[in-house]
Amino acid sequence: MPDSSLTNSKIVAAYREKTPGSAARAEQAREIFPSGITHDSRKTDPYGIYVARAEGSRKWDVDGNEYVDYFGGHGALILGHNHPAVMAAVHGQLDLGTHFGASHELEVEWGDLIQQLVPSAEKVRFTASGTEANLMAFRLARAFTGKTRIVRFLSHFHGWQDHVSFANRADYEGGVPPGVLDGIVEGMVVVRPDAIESVREALDGRDDIAAVILEPTGASFGQLPLDREFVAELRRITERHGILLIFDEVVTGFRVAPGGAQAHYGIAPDLTSLAKILSGGLPGGAVAGRRDILDLLDFEVAEKKGFTKIAHQGTYNANPVSAAAGVAALKEIASGEVCDRASQQTAKIRAAVNDVLADEGVPWACYGDHSGFYFFTNPEGLEIDPKNFDGYAQDFETMRKAGGHPSVAKFRLAMLTNGVDITGKPGGTVSAAHTDEDVALTAEAVRASIGMLREEGDL
Ligand SMILES: Cc1ncc(COP(=O)(O)O)c(C=O)c1O
Repeated sequence: MPDSSLTNSKIVAAYREKTPGSAARAEQAREIFPSGITHDSRKTDPYGIYVARAEGSRKWDVDGNEYVDYFGGHGALILGHNHPAVMAAVHGQLDLGTHFGASHELEVEWGDLIQQLVPSAEKVRFTASGTEANLMAFRLARAFTGKTRIVRFLSHFHGWQDHVSFANRADYEGGVPPGVLDGIVEGMVVVRPDAIESVREALDGRDDIAAVILEPTGASFGQLPLDREFVAELRRITERHGILLIFDEVVTGFRVAPGGAQAHYGIAPDLTSLAKILSGGLPGGAVAGRRDILDLLDFEVAEKKGFTKIAHQGTYNANPVSAAAGVAALKEIASGEVCDRASQQTAKIRAAVNDVLADEGVPWACYGDHSGFYFFTNPEGLEIDPKNFDGYAQDFETMRKAGGHPSVAKFRLAMLTNGVDITGKPGGTVSAAHTDEDVALTAEAVRASIGMLREEGDL
């Protein structure tokens, strides 16, 4: 059994040597924030890098080290860091004001772009985040159908609010965290995403389901991939049962295609949650969908039809600076070239990394779809060929362990030491700003990191 612990690791020593400034800041942060961090995905042992600035596909830490960045603002930056059109729009808006406490022109332009790009967006409501967009989608679905429960898929991630705070990890692990009311947990029906039968079984013979929500390309942007046929069948089943279908397109929206996964598949959900790319790297979110459902938020319709409207406030809904960034970003994305370029660069990364893995005789694989890539780290030592690995062809029990090799934490540190910042899954999202040089650097970083892991007996 390899020693995957971080104590006495040369990789950790090399990382520490390169990043003393980050270490110092992390020590101070531990006195301020739980675990010293401000987002669970930033948890890195022994500590994460502190980033001082970014540009295009790269970022630089406080010690001056340069990294190829695959966090991409947690998926928000399909244009890369500091895209000139987005930066100009933000700078321009800052001079005009950051918050008017009133309607403004840019929010209309922003909503109009969403209507134009996202096929099912008959109406739009802005929120401050993706978490909030899903929360609103659930409330709309319950109010519209008069039913109480929401079906969601084990491992699919929809933010951190109570309804979706459990059974949401790609490895399926993790129970209900403390502080979540039993009633909310009971209001959710969690089904396995590996067979459409599990959905049929969950729906048959009951009439209390308001909606089904999913990440339309599979959990964590396809780390556990779902194919189009699954989603198409889900659409047919929900229609048959009079149940609403919610696409969580917080990641896939404006990334898989300008119109998101729904445009790519040609399947229309009833409601769509949007965030991330939507607001060009600034905070924001939206719920979009059928006019008759979003009418539940409408004062005039409520008065005319005699129902109590759904209340919705939110200090930062359609914030002018986010709107400026969002409008600029969506205009860049509208033609489809940005999404295509990001996907093409990702395909090159997967191919180059798989060449290295095959060359080095490492039984891992780099897989994924669109502009996402993941490492299948093969903790069970299956016979695989990295160059022909197909995530869709594996069963879910295999895929849920994709990132489960005991040395993944060290692999990430080794990659950082070699100038590449991947996520802990491990994997990343790619932007249109990633160059062929980034592809080559990433492949070489994988080769060097494998060498470092081998030296420690991890591979
Ligand atoms: C698919 C999906 N839905 C919802 C969310 C939550 O969005 P936010 O972080 O803006 O609250 C995320 C965030 O990563 C996500 O990936």
